Amino acid sequence: MEIQHNFSLKNYNTFGIEAKAKQFVAVQSLAELKSILEQHKAEKKFILGGGSNMLLTQDINALVIHIDLKGKKVINEDDDYVWIESQAGENWHEFVLWNIEQNYGGLENMSLIPGNVGTTPVQNIGAYGAEIKDTFVSCQAINIDTQEIKSFTNAECKFGYRESIFKNEVKGQYIITSVVFKLTKRNHKINTSYGDILGELAKNNISNPGLKDVSNAVIAIRQSKLPDPKELGNSGSFFKNPIVLKSDFEKIHQKFPEMKFYEVSATEVKVPAGWLIEQAGLKGKRFGDAGIHKNQALVLVNYGTATGQDILEVSRIVQRTVFETFGIQIEAEVNII
Ligand code: EPU
Repeated sequence: MEIQHNFSLKNYNTFGIEAKAKQFVAVQSLAELKSILEQHKAEKKFILGGGSNMLLTQDINALVIHIDLKGKKVINEDDDYVWIESQAGENWHEFVLWNIEQNYGGLENMSLIPGNVGTTPVQNIGAYGAEIKDTFVSCQAINIDTQEIKSFTNAECKFGYRESIFKNEVKGQYIITSVVFKLTKRNHKINTSYGDILGELAKNNISNPGLKDVSNAVIAIRQSKLPDPKELGNSGSFFKNPIVLKSDFEKIHQKFPEMKFYEVSATEVKVPAGWLIEQAGLKGKRFGDAGIHKNQALVLVNYGTATGQDILEVSRIVQRTVFETFGIQIEAEVNII
């Protein structure tokens, strides 16, 4: 475990942005993490997981701790369910595929989401009708200041749409070190109701899909819309889908009757930000090396040498244009550093 100085983070963020860490260390065990935290109590620290949900707009003047804890195992099982514990540094998609190979169900709709297991609870990742909160049992975390180890149950995490306690009450206080999921061993709850999944399965003449079929369908849909960060720097959805009061929405909807929406409560609806951005005429637009993806307008991309500031500037253009067109404010989903 070696501390490096003036370390380039280009390969540690999926936007592929060149920014430097004042100090950088990768930790491979809980013991290493504990000792780094103990030895560097007074220093400013920045915790880095898979780097798939952040936009670096400046160098990081802190000790960057990259969480590289690996390992996964069955910790409990009965006839119907299995409890799997994964260390925080496992790659999410590889973890999903491993579970599918074991015939453990529940994560298949979240195939190909970039990032590491340890950061999935922070924003309650979700896709194609599934969210982490549906299979999450608990996670273990270490308090950055006191090094106390604490377990958070599903209820304690206070999950919401791209929300959890880790983005709110305890923000910046804990590092998640492992996560436990409860998955099905039989009677899998195959969920094909979202978007294009059924269409994708039909293309391949699959009428009775298993876990692998659903995963393959999700992978195909994602690959058709979402750029691979290895080829084109990006951070998945850059914006959250805005939640609008029904009373406000009704007025907007009268003006734009073709606007898509999903009911989320008795008083609120969620509007797809991708649709708003596309209708505002921004899909596929490029400003230097920063732009709005041509197949999914929710995704901002780095064509090569964009800086974090360039991407941030594009995100502001998007927010401003959407607001001027529809009167709806959209917020970033990624963390702006
Ligand atoms: N749409 C457009 N134009 C676009 C993009 C979308 O008109 O450029 C429309 C679509 O036609 C569709 C609706 O907007 O009617 C919703 O689109 P889609 O199903 O592609 O999903 P999304 O709302 O754009 C969310 C998540 C994604 C997740 C997908 C699938 C958020 C912020 N994003 O996107 O998550 O993969 O649903 O479940 O909730 C991520 O968080 O990084 C991410 C990729």
